[in-house]
Amino acid sequence: MLRVLLTLALGEALRAPGALRARPARRAAAPVSMMAGGAKKILVLGGDGFCGWPTAVHLSDKGHAVTIVDNLSRRDIDTELGCDSLTPIAHPEVRIAAWKELTGKTIDFVNLDVAKEYDRLESLIKDKRPDSIVHFAEQRAAPYSQKGTKQKRYTVDNNVCGTHNLLTAVVEADCCAHIVHLGTMGVYGYGTSGGEIPEGYIDVVLPGGRDSRILHPAYPGSVYHTTKCLDALLFQFYAKNDGVRVTDLHQGIVWGTNTDLTSMDPRLTNRFDYDGDYGTVLNRFLMQAALNVPMTVYGTGGQTRAFIHISDTCKCIEIAINNPPAEGAQPEIFNQVAETRRVRDIAELISKNTGVEARFLANPRQEAAENELDVSNRKFRALGFEPTKLNDALFEEVQDVTQKYKDRCIPTKILPASFWNKKRAQEVAADKEARGAVDSAAAAGVGR
Ligand SMILES: NC(=O)c1ccc[n+]([C@@H]2O[C@H](COP(=O)([O-])OP(=O)(O)OC[C@H]3O[C@@H](n4cnc5c(N)ncnc54)[C@H](O)[C@@H]3O)[C@@H](O)[C@H]2O)c1
Repeated sequence: MLRVLLTLALGEALRAPGALRARPARRAAAPVSMMAGGAKKILVLGGDGFCGWPTAVHLSDKGHAVTIVDNLSRRDIDTELGCDSLTPIAHPEVRIAAWKELTGKTIDFVNLDVAKEYDRLESLIKDKRPDSIVHFAEQRAAPYSQKGTKQKRYTVDNNVCGTHNLLTAVVEADCCAHIVHLGTMGVYGYGTSGGEIPEGYIDVVLPGGRDSRILHPAYPGSVYHTTKCLDALLFQFYAKNDGVRVTDLHQGIVWGTNTDLTSMDPRLTNRFDYDGDYGTVLNRFLMQAALNVPMTVYGTGGQTRAFIHISDTCKCIEIAINNPPAEGAQPEIFNQVAETRRVRDIAELISKNTGVEARFLANPRQEAAENELDVSNRKFRALGFEPTKLNDALFEEVQDVTQKYKDRCIPTKILPASFWNKKRAQEVAADKEARGAVDSAAAAGVGR
């Protein structure tokens, strides 16, 4: 069904090249923010999450009036998975009270489900009249989205309905808010471009010799990535039809734990996911290195991925907020990426630092064994983005976190717990390296 939807929607874009540039009917002018000195009113949807919390404090620190909107579903998923953030994280009310105590700045918090509580969302937007809305509030783990029928359906319902509710609420509230959405590099697919991946759009010549500028073809690798492609189509439509201003940030894998601001006090500590579903590759490897068990590399480790440090995520969002597209323009798209790395090279880098070896196990994911990834981030760099690289000293921060809290880790949870299809599940089950990994993880857990 999703495939049909995507094919139809992309086909439509190809058939109507001029449509993407058509100016929408202008909405009635809404009152603009009355805040002084360039400060803005900003809603941060998903502001209790790994990227959302450091971004909320970063924007508050810059003098913006920030309201976090979150239904705390990520914390509920921790309970469902029998796992928890490696770092102890305080409840949102405790976090924002600590922020107030330390800085004198106020962050508001509204517990609201963006995907299910449409009326409350529209009222909130009418009431706050935000200048910008940063949208992180989605189920963000590709493995979790492949876990089973329940998780697949939840990911689509939550992410696509949430994004659509936001767009339609902005229109209904007659609000001029600029939406800054966190998308993913995974919308382009890995290894399919045959050259540098541009920032969002490609110039093509259509049959009949007509020039057009269209979205880069979508090639999602999981249900999660598919929802981000569907989001992109919703943005195209609402920008064209209603003049909603949208920036879609195609972000790489975010690494690091704390920023300078969340390091100020233990009550501000950011979350650190290490489990097979939510833990990204670097976190899982560093966790295993801290426990002194082999790092589990999927397949040949030949997958190339894009990375960005959490502090850079916050800075990029600030840059995006400060540079909204014009009303009626196509959604702005940036590749929010600092660098690309091959997974086995990351394992080697950690191995050199820690002496812990890598173990290659059957890949739970349906993906190309090896891929190149050449990504343009020129537009972002032109706006002042100076990326932090994995080689920089900040790498040590994550190592320190895994060492400090390793007694909170459940070692068996680091191993893959979701499989892209039955064949991949059987291959992992039959893999003796995988069985060895289970034994090492169990041994690391002895005495805990
Ligand atoms: N972490 C990464 O490496 C990464 C990489 C690329 C893109 N992104 C994108 O950035 C965004 C944030 O990622 P993250 O790592 O902070 O994820 P996260 O799961 O830590 O945070 C998401 C937050 O959104 C909230 N949320 C989810 N659905 C909601 C709903 N219906 N209503 C209200 N709140 C809801 C969750 O409770 C959680 O606090 C996601 O959209 C993700 O796709 C993340």
